Amino acid sequence: MTNSKDLLKESIKGIAEYVPGKSTEDIVAGYGIEPGDIIKLGSNENPLGPSTMAVEAVRTMADSISVYPSVDAGELRRALAAYVGYPEDMVVMGAGMDGVVDTLMRLFVHPGTSAIIPTPTFSYFEIALRAAGGTPVFVKRQGDYSVDIQAVISSLDDTTRLIYLCSPNNPSGNTIPEDDVRAVVESTDAIVFLDEAYVDFSSNSLVGLISEYDNLVVGRTMSKAMGLAGLRIGYAVVPNWIFREYMKATTPFAISRIAVAAGLAALEDTDYRKKTIENVDVGRKFLTEQLSNHCRVYPSQANFILIDVSPKKSRDVAETLLKSGIIVRDCTSFRDAGDGLIRITVGTPDQNRRVVDTLHTILDS
Ligand SMILES: Cc1ncc(COP(=O)(O)O)c(C=O)c1O
Repeated sequence: MTNSKDLLKESIKGIAEYVPGKSTEDIVAGYGIEPGDIIKLGSNENPLGPSTMAVEAVRTMADSISVYPSVDAGELRRALAAYVGYPEDMVVMGAGMDGVVDTLMRLFVHPGTSAIIPTPTFSYFEIALRAAGGTPVFVKRQGDYSVDIQAVISSLDDTTRLIYLCSPNNPSGNTIPEDDVRAVVESTDAIVFLDEAYVDFSSNSLVGLISEYDNLVVGRTMSKAMGLAGLRIGYAVVPNWIFREYMKATTPFAISRIAVAAGLAALEDTDYRKKTIENVDVGRKFLTEQLSNHCRVYPSQANFILIDVSPKKSRDVAETLLKSGIIVRDCTSFRDAGDGLIRITVGTPDQNRRVVDTLHTILDS
């Protein structure tokens, strides 16, 4: 008789659990701070809250949640296809971009295969890869967090199935130049997954390259600029041959009726998106200017900035901010990030002022 625990896949044992940003509830429980006094700048959410049009759509849809959604979220998929300028049979969806990544792992990864991951970066790609039995090959980013493209290309081998490029990168905020992405895509038949979760805050989308290559996938999400993180809507633009395979392997009905309705409304709400992007532009500039003479601030094209508080420890600085009711992201859990980096989501003007004033006091002490 085997012990049930022995049946667990070997690949799961090596996974370090995903570390999310702290929630408001964590801080209320842990520090006794009133919810109204807490500002949440640790998870790159939209500080303006959701689009009112999306909220209205959720309310309207509430009466029909006893009915399954369409199997492939077709209505929203078509609207997203129009938004990115590709035909509907080149857009796939999942429960968040995380869900899209999971399905891609099902398509391409099995034990004995590998994926290249430039670090530090968003950790879920590694988790999904390992869960599928694949082996990560890490290529450390350079001092300014640019990707060492030649090192990525030199790491390609017969086992490589995927290459993860995050642009703008979480947590560093920088983008990858088009020529670098082309150089990787053209060096291999493996699939290059370009994660553009934060691309609405930059002017550098490379989604246009999809039509030129058979091995490039661009991941997108409605969690950030579209303000729907709580609904879990991710999508990707893929070559048509991947679309056909993806539709066979993906979870059916992955996008709820509520999410489809809200997603459609959010896409229509161009005013909300414009306000969101303006708020990030202004706030990012403010945070960068105000913090630059106290610590190193990395130039960002995302809705967050990365600062280096060393020789202080990021864990201590983040903890002191928490005691003042400010949640930021200590980056210690990011592979190869060291122990001095803090990621701060751009908030509202009042929130940004509060984080700057509190950080000045901490960094001057
Ligand atoms: C770079 C990056 N990619 C993907 C995701 C996942 O997005 P989603 O909420 O669509 O699963 C995140 C979430 O923070 C992210 O930072």
